[in-house]
Amino acid sequence: MYSTLLTSLEENIFTITINRPDKLNALNKQVLTDLNAVLDEVYTNPHIKSVIITGSGPKAFVAGADISEFSGLTKEQSKALAKAGQDIFFRIENSPKPIVACVNGFALGGGCELAMSCHFRIASDNAKFGQPEVNLGLIPGYGGTQRLVQLIGKGRALELLMSGSLLDANTALQYGLVNYVVLQEELLQKAKSILAIINTKAPIAVGKCIAAANAVFDETKNGYEVEVTAFGDCFDTPDRVEGTTAFLEKRKPNFSSGGLS
Ligand code: COA
Repeated sequence: MYSTLLTSLEENIFTITINRPDKLNALNKQVLTDLNAVLDEVYTNPHIKSVIITGSGPKAFVAGADISEFSGLTKEQSKALAKAGQDIFFRIENSPKPIVACVNGFALGGGCELAMSCHFRIASDNAKFGQPEVNLGLIPGYGGTQRLVQLIGKGRALELLMSGSLLDANTALQYGLVNYVVLQEELLQKAKSILAIINTKAPIAVGKCIAAANAVFDETKNGYEVEVTAFGDCFDTPDRVEGTTAFLEKRKPNFSSGGLS
């Protein structure tokens, strides 16, 4: 269905694998097109409650934008490319369903940016993160200058951005860029075990957590107001009735909402 992606749906967890292992899963135009299309599926398929994004093969999550497509681009075309990538990554960041990056190797350039657009990250012990664009006379274009500062702070981010040096998995853990570091063979299982828990929670409430947390970084919004509105929206759902009733009846809640609000 997608020429550069593999997908599978198990237990309401949708796994998207970027599948260009011979090019270390570099993001060419087709991968971006496929990612945009697969996000339509994520947003609309009620059987998908949560998502994993990972890379094919043992070596790379994604080694960046496809550098071979840079030659011959005009200034305007390069700006359009950056904007198109940013728009896709905004769709990941603003998805009402949780999206976790399972970083199974190099996450460089656009790969690091893709991982950072996800709601959180889990790394295998061979993972390496970095924004090496300065080596190409460039800077990140898919949100990397913004999200790296958000996630690890300005000083650490600027050191990485300006030096192009790479972070190993344990340093990424220490910086808070990833939540866990696990053996590569345990990577997907670790994400699935966390998502299995999240999938039992009220889907609309889960989506509102994402929206409210994202509002922290959105200058056009007052996050506290977003939280108040989201709290009210949740209050009005059958899941809130079920959740509070189940608590009072000393039983587990059985949430039914479809995940989209
Ligand atoms: N764009 C296009 N092709 C890429 C790529 C990218 N970002 N990253 C890797 N590849 C390709 C290589 O050209 C090579 O293709 P080939 O076999 O047809 O020559 C293949 O993937 C394997 O990569 P290779 O460089 O041989 O592997 P390595 O183990 O020696 O090095 C890296 C791994 C990640 C250190 C190295 O590939 C690299 O530096 N990649 C670019 C990282 C980057 O600058 N990303 C930001 C882009 S904006």
